[in-house]
Amino acid sequence: MAIEQPAARPANPRFSSGPCAKPPTHDLAKLSDAPLGRSHRAAVGKAKLLAAIEETREILGVPADYKIGIVPASDTGAYEMAMWSLLGERPAQMVAWESFGAGWVTDVVKQLKIEATTHTADYGEIVDMGALNYDNDVCFTWNGTTSGVRMPNGDAIPADRKGLTLCDATSAAFAMDLPWDKLDVTTFSWQKVLGGEAAHGMLILSPRAVERLENYTPAWPLPKIFRLTKGGKLIEGIFKGETINTPSMLAVEDYLFALDWARSVGGLKGLIARADANTAAITQFVENNDWIDFLANDPATRSNTSVCLKFTDDRITDGPAFAKAIAKRLADENVALDVGAYRDAPAGLRIWCGATVETADIEAMLPWLAYAFDQEING
Ligand SMILES: Cc1ncc(COP(=O)(O)O)c(C=O)c1O
Repeated sequence: MAIEQPAARPANPRFSSGPCAKPPTHDLAKLSDAPLGRSHRAAVGKAKLLAAIEETREILGVPADYKIGIVPASDTGAYEMAMWSLLGERPAQMVAWESFGAGWVTDVVKQLKIEATTHTADYGEIVDMGALNYDNDVCFTWNGTTSGVRMPNGDAIPADRKGLTLCDATSAAFAMDLPWDKLDVTTFSWQKVLGGEAAHGMLILSPRAVERLENYTPAWPLPKIFRLTKGGKLIEGIFKGETINTPSMLAVEDYLFALDWARSVGGLKGLIARADANTAAITQFVENNDWIDFLANDPATRSNTSVCLKFTDDRITDGPAFAKAIAKRLADENVALDVGAYRDAPAGLRIWCGATVETADIEAMLPWLAYAFDQEING
């Protein structure tokens, strides 16, 4: 029997994996305290930048002896800056299980050209993090945004490692517990779990990462926007809001709003609970429908932010065309925007479940997915 068109639509159909939905209470009018047209080095600007750093520390539970900086070019800027500033002192272990991790592998192997061992897993799988050599530097992505496969925890990373761990946590921060003692470099962008803007990246450094920066100079030149040290000393100002170059104070205000909202939903615990509840609604749907499954094979590695799904019905002959047609139907009905799988990932859907998404919206969208599937498969 054909499935009827659902009666209700999600209040917010934005399920993009980045930029992600704004916090539910967001309103541009609430950013009117942004010190626009003022120098970011004026007291008011510096205070806002420092507040963004310290509130990040508080909500994420970053240890007091870790440095947090606001740097240019979103997560990519922060992660590239870390790799180019820190790697090369010892060999690297490059780890990837989807497209973004693979991008960092390419950078190290083809651009930096340092001694590196590459460990990869197919979409849906994860690399055995216990099998790595932690005397080397280890570069990895906590949550593979394009496969929906995440690290279940940091247990495989030894506390007494000699190398540094460089973690791209952009689709994990504010939705998953990050074990700070296992992470020497952590990066993320405001545009993901908190639904901020993409302009700037966050760079979090452990004391050992700072020690490396102050005692090792890479063999290659570094452009000004990557430079974290001067005369062999960390540029402390970067970690107090004296950014390397001019930030967008509008984006900063927007991030401060998101941090306030994060606190209002219970901080990190509340944010994780929201992402978990969203993902649980999808899990329930997958269990009730035999034509759809998670791309992540091991339930312990399933992301609670970038939830990637694949269609498993035998009647589908052209997987990519089918998945695209479903995503288009959902967008045309204005019930789910930007939910097609990432361009390099296997065909399917990717539904953002991070904290800014309301569970009621996921629940209102899922009947539309069943309806779209039925329409597409039965014509
Ligand atoms: C894991 C991961 N790394 C890096 C990026 C790039 O982030 P940005 O465009 O904010 O630099 C993304 C964006 O989706 C991502 O998911």
